[in-house]
Amino acid sequence: MPRDSRFDILFEPVRIGPVIAKNRFYQVPHCNGMGYARPQAHAAMRGVKAEGGWAVVSTEEVEIHPSSDISPYIEGRLWDDRDVPALALMTDAVHKHGALAAIELVHTGMNASNLYSREISIAPSPIASSASYVPAQARGMSKADIRNYRRWHRDAALRARRAGFDIIYVYAGHSLSLAMHFLQSRHNHRTDEYGGSLVNRARLLRELIEDTKEAVGADCAVAVRFAVDELRGADGISAESEGREVVEMLAELPDLWDVNVSDWPNDSKTSRFAAEGYQEAFVRFVKTVTTKPVVGVGRFTSPDTMVSQIRRGVLDLIGAARPSIADPFLPKKIERGDVDDIRECIGCNVCVTGDYTMTPIRCTQNPTMGEEWRKGWHPESVPPRSGNDSFLVVGAGPSGLECARVLGRRGYTVHLADAGEQFGGRVTRESRLPGLAAWARVRDYRLNQLNTLQNVQLLRGSRVTAEEVLEFGATRVVIATGSHWRRDGVGRANVRPIPGFDAAHNVFTPDDVLDGVTGPVLVFDDDHYYLGAVLAEKLRLDGHDVTLVTPAERVSAWTVNTLEQHAIQKRVLDLGVEVCTNRNVVEFDGSRVVLECTYTARHTIAPAAAIVTLTSRLPNDDLAQQLSELPDATAAAGIVAITSIGDCLAPGTIAAAVYSGHRHAREFDRLAVDEMPFERELTEIHR
Ligand SMILES: Cc1cc2nc3c(=O)[nH]c(=O)nc-3n(C[C@H](O)[C@H](O)[C@H](O)COP(=O)(O)O)c2cc1C
Ligand code: SF4
Repeated sequence: MPRDSRFDILFEPVRIGPVIAKNRFYQVPHCNGMGYARPQAHAAMRGVKAEGGWAVVSTEEVEIHPSSDISPYIEGRLWDDRDVPALALMTDAVHKHGALAAIELVHTGMNASNLYSREISIAPSPIASSASYVPAQARGMSKADIRNYRRWHRDAALRARRAGFDIIYVYAGHSLSLAMHFLQSRHNHRTDEYGGSLVNRARLLRELIEDTKEAVGADCAVAVRFAVDELRGADGISAESEGREVVEMLAELPDLWDVNVSDWPNDSKTSRFAAEGYQEAFVRFVKTVTTKPVVGVGRFTSPDTMVSQIRRGVLDLIGAARPSIADPFLPKKIERGDVDDIRECIGCNVCVTGDYTMTPIRCTQNPTMGEEWRKGWHPESVPPRSGNDSFLVVGAGPSGLECARVLGRRGYTVHLADAGEQFGGRVTRESRLPGLAAWARVRDYRLNQLNTLQNVQLLRGSRVTAEEVLEFGATRVVIATGSHWRRDGVGRANVRPIPGFDAAHNVFTPDDVLDGVTGPVLVFDDDHYYLGAVLAEKLRLDGHDVTLVTPAERVSAWTVNTLEQHAIQKRVLDLGVEVCTNRNVVEFDGSRVVLECTYTARHTIAPAAAIVTLTSRLPNDDLAQQLSELPDATAAAGIVAITSIGDCLAPGTIAAAVYSGHRHAREFDRLAVDEMPFERELTEIHR
């Protein structure tokens, strides 16, 4: 389909100092759990973004010095010349596709744990380390320290140019860099020319920009990433006062302004807490005070929204981290007129969990993310079919849909059957809950793609029995029938059933809640991800009195890794949900529940008219079990393999289910059971 001319403006080149971005699509810095530790994987991932049409592809934050070691997190490193080749792998991969490579140089100051380097952290003034309760303090920087820091930054810029970068960042964002710590009056208590007035507090940022321009400005653009608002009112930088004043003060100094809000959870807000374009109100002033190009972010996936940002003079370049992760080919798809093929980010922040868990990035929507090098997976191409197999995929939840899509793209004949009239499984059900509507994109993208494949038949309202599988005539059967929540309370905290749960008529699972519950409710969350708090929210909005009990120290404990925990706990508290942490449910008699303190094992009794229990799930594996008991019949029916995928194999995240479906479709004919499932980057041994 030819491109809609409305979108032409997105493909105009933009000059950024001495370099030119070929269009307005700008992949802003994002970490990925690969960084310095897995440079080949990192380079391949960035290369795919460039191939997908992004005019600029940035690194994550790149530490410039051992005193900026944010171990155990894995970011980029440019501590000395030996780090140049690893980063050059990335610039080569990016340049190969005509994109510009950007590097975000950072000294993380008091955020550096320095657990690996054992250096002392530095800060504008002496202060406790802000690296997650690390028992250390940062020392206040002397003038000599400031001079040293400026030299390290300059040296890093020179190395970055040597590594082939076209755009070099000075970073004052997310409250994660020294330059920003100097700006913040709450962190900068200095009385010399680097403290006090805003002009003084901005001095270091000005000097860093000037140093970088002087060092590399002839060849490389110098960008500033600046958080114009910290969303903490008068206690922080705000777009109405100091945020604006900083941009006004330094307006023409950098070649590019990359502006956003701070801190990271505010910047990368999930769809549960913010809509597309949510940063506009904070950043729109920037273009009114500088003539330099401005890039901003806001989970942009709609080309219409992007055009509107440009036309209304909010931004010059469309910045994206998550939309580029969910669909590295987003620009190419708009360029080619294939807007319906965009795999839109659902705003779940599973991508962030890679950074937090120090493992390669993953994405709910894009199962190839992080697998470009180690598995050779490409987001847009799949290997052609290797034989004449035909597939029956039973279950059209996230894993079944993805499996059928990839098998279909490979050229296999596929039948995808689901008992329900509506496809999508848990995604369809959960997307009806408060704040989760965007999650339906997992289903919608796949259904859209499946509808274009002639070789895939969709069988709605088809509950498939073992006999029907045998009669179907497919050579391979994939079972993706999902999972269901346990009613007996077995989970992490209770490895045996909770006495009373099975007998009581008023114990419900999330599957029931979606169909309706009455009375005051106690939600027992031993799952620790999003669903417990979402259900508490829904029940509260439905008018119930709700108590949320969890054995964890906080509500939805795992969502620390998706940057949402604080916002989730605040939301349930604001709604009037009673929150009870560090408590296990150990007994229920139908009207009263026994709660046990996870520290003291002391018991308290609380009234409960109904319990909603989220502890763990069981696979819906009846069909798989039945077929496994009929080996002769399946062989006689010509079935060569029956494979369970997704939640039906082992209940997990939606991302894991999509990955499982994708993996089976790609690998069933290519990977033997005992083979190493992916390439590894091994440490070189010097001796
Ligand atoms: C997985 C992930 C890692 C990120 N890492 C960085 C980083 O290293 N440096 C940085 O300045 N911003 C980082 N960010 C913030 C993004 O650059 C961006 O400002 C934010 O996600 C909002 O843009 P988006 O809505 O397009 O994702 C990261 C975001 C994500 C999702
Ligand atoms: S993991 Fe979720 S938030 Fe991150 S890019 Fe993928 S869909 Fe978007």
